Amino acid sequence: MYVVAAPERAQLAQDVAQRIDADLLTYETKTFPDGERFVRIDASIEGAAVLLADARPNERVIDTLIACDSAREAGADTIHLAVPYLSYARQDTAFEPGEGVSARAVNRALGTGADTLATVDVHAAHVLEYFPGPAVSEQAAPELATALDERGLELVLAPDRGARELAASIGDRLGVPHDYLEKTRRSSTEVEMAPKALDVTGRTVAIVDDIIATGGTMATASEHLLEQGAAVVLVAATHGLFVAGADKRLEDAGVEEILVTDAIPTERSSVSCADALARGLQRTTAG
Ligand code: R5P
Repeated sequence: MYVVAAPERAQLAQDVAQRIDADLLTYETKTFPDGERFVRIDASIEGAAVLLADARPNERVIDTLIACDSAREAGADTIHLAVPYLSYARQDTAFEPGEGVSARAVNRALGTGADTLATVDVHAAHVLEYFPGPAVSEQAAPELATALDERGLELVLAPDRGARELAASIGDRLGVPHDYLEKTRRSSTEVEMAPKALDVTGRTVAIVDDIIATGGTMATASEHLLEQGAAVVLVAATHGLFVAGADKRLEDAGVEEILVTDAIPTERSSVSCADALARGLQRTTAG
């Protein structure tokens, strides 16, 4: 079986291919003068293929749709998507009347080209139900826990209820207690943390979440903990988007260290998500 990927994700695709005993195949992309995208797989594929689909907004989502078609043209009879970061998952419901549910639109579109989907720490589990075929999300908790080991952590916190499972999983792996904060989002960049009686005085605390986007959530939570007397605050997330000045915001908040996986590749990506993706693929390719 081949793991097919864009050249820019060849390293991650190779790492995944090794783990599922497959070969790597990269595809070519280009942009036409009018901005439209082109994808070509210059090889023959027999049977099933894994498409490592970097579905960051927006161009790569289109590339993924075309790459599915390209894989079929090349001969694939089954396409298993491996999506390190499933974008558009945060608009997972119509919060106000008339709002488009982006998660539904994008997952339905992906399902027109692919048969199964494996991703890592999807924003909300119910988003996977919008994909028409089998779809799974694997936690990067084992990988994040390993990266957070030997930091002397004394508490693992989720910044909101949505990340409680991730915090529990990482805390349990490290043998340290876990808890969560109560977050209210005020705007796309501003959040508030409700006061919560936590004994963080003099302690080293890690805040863990699925995504760092603007950094508002992590920065607000970090300030909150440092004001309560925490000695050191680290933040870790599966997906590091780092938009709208997130780096500066986290630095100003007093965050000691930032750990993110390469699900979204940036200079901050220090943790590989290959094992998590391979675990997901083992589930979606089994049936
Ligand atoms: C929201 O529920 C997510 O789990 C993250 O907490 C959120 O997307 C992070 O966004 P930001 O970094 O912009 O606060």
